[in-house]
Amino acid sequence: MANLDIAGMRKPYKGKQEVFDVGDLVAKEPFGQFTAWFEEAKNTDGIMEANAMAIATATKDGKPSVRMVLMKGIDKKGIVFYTNYGSRKAQELEENPFASLLFYLSTNSETSTISRQIRIEGRVERVSEAESTQYFHSRPRTSQMGAVVSQQSTLIKNREELDKRNQELLDKYEGNDIPIPKPDYWGGFRVVPNRFEFWQGQTNRLHDRIVFRKPEEGEKVDPNFTHTGEEGWVYERLMP
Ligand SMILES: Cc1cc2nc3c(=O)[nH]c(=O)nc-3n(C[C@H](O)[C@H](O)[C@H](O)COP(=O)(O)O)c2cc1C
Repeated sequence: MANLDIAGMRKPYKGKQEVFDVGDLVAKEPFGQFTAWFEEAKNTDGIMEANAMAIATATKDGKPSVRMVLMKGIDKKGIVFYTNYGSRKAQELEENPFASLLFYLSTNSETSTISRQIRIEGRVERVSEAESTQYFHSRPRTSQMGAVVSQQSTLIKNREELDKRNQELLDKYEGNDIPIPKPDYWGGFRVVPNRFEFWQGQTNRLHDRIVFRKPEEGEKVDPNFTHTGEEGWVYERLMP
């Protein structure tokens, strides 16, 4: 294998990173803070898909797996993404309904420097059929067909076979107004967070980490470290 010189990889930040401390939070609960960082990333040219997030799941006996998905909704109830309910991730979520999400928001151009990570953890539930159906029909028809054609995470002989299945659907649905029914094996999951971590990279490597979490029942927090936020959240700083 070629020598990739990974150990020596280092790109200096072009802009200055703002120090991020508890006093800089735009909200005393995590959804407001998330929205502020997300909006900034979304409006930054160098960030291709700010809504792309890694989601880690695990089997019942704790073997993890991770992949990217697209966040398609967020409100105080949680973060929604859509997938195939027969896929590996969905099967793992059925047997172990907890997930960890990761957004990596990074750009280092002449005009903008962002170096952030947001980690979110929580319980996962299916969104209602009505919500999935409504979202399904809001997608472009080609995406709807993609969802129908792919039995995600199962084996297929070759690419040709996949193209053939796709063409059959195109012939059936393209060029006319027949609605494409949402397959019952496709829909959304909602991650209901109990922990958010906002990580802000710093040039001097003393990165900032602010955690919002829901305290354990009966937990007594130490006010020297832990601040009482809004809507049942507390927040605190971790060392980098
Ligand atoms: C940027 C990006 C976005 C993706 N978005 C989705 C998505 O929203 N839903 C989805 O099912 N797969 C999405 N995928 C594909 C998944 O990463 C993965 O290959 C697929 O869901 C099968 O994963 P699994 O076998 O672990 O279930 C995306 C991949 C990338 C790179």
